[in-house]
Amino acid sequence: MAQRTFSIIKPDAFRKGFTGAIFAEIDKAGFQIVGIKKLSISKAQAQGFYYVHKERPFFDDLTTFMSSGPIVLLVLEKENAIADLRKLMGATNPANAEEGTIRKKFAGSIQENAIHGSDAEETAAFEIGYWFAGYELI
Ligand code: CMP
Repeated sequence: MAQRTFSIIKPDAFRKGFTGAIFAEIDKAGFQIVGIKKLSISKAQAQGFYYVHKERPFFDDLTTFMSSGPIVLLVLEKENAIADLRKLMGATNPANAEEGTIRKKFAGSIQENAIHGSDAEETAAFEIGYWFAGYELI
């Protein structure tokens, strides 16, 4: 059965002009885009999105970074979307990411790591609902 996941092309990748190349990877891997928007988000919006990390030492830097420039928000659909997107992205730290993954190709550091993808069904549901209204998913 088709599953939905949530993804963000982060400010570093957008700034470096990698958005089109990342779309191509996502398309080639068989994902359908069911929701898409480009936004510049506030720090408060980033804090709400990443609230599960609020006690982490990197929380302040992460939310400053995520509100530092345009991002592209995506809702993606395919069979096994959550696990397949995480495989396509590669490890959080690009230094540990496998050859051929998006982070290996496009990420600069553990924080500026080009792309986000939901890690589980419950987080995907929260993350999709945080940024998209139901009528925006087609
Ligand atoms: P993401 O998949 O969006 O989920 C949380 C983000 O926090 C992660 O990608 C990284 O951008 C960032 N992050 C995770 N671990 C660290 C870390 N040790 N130092 C800095 N940023 C981190």
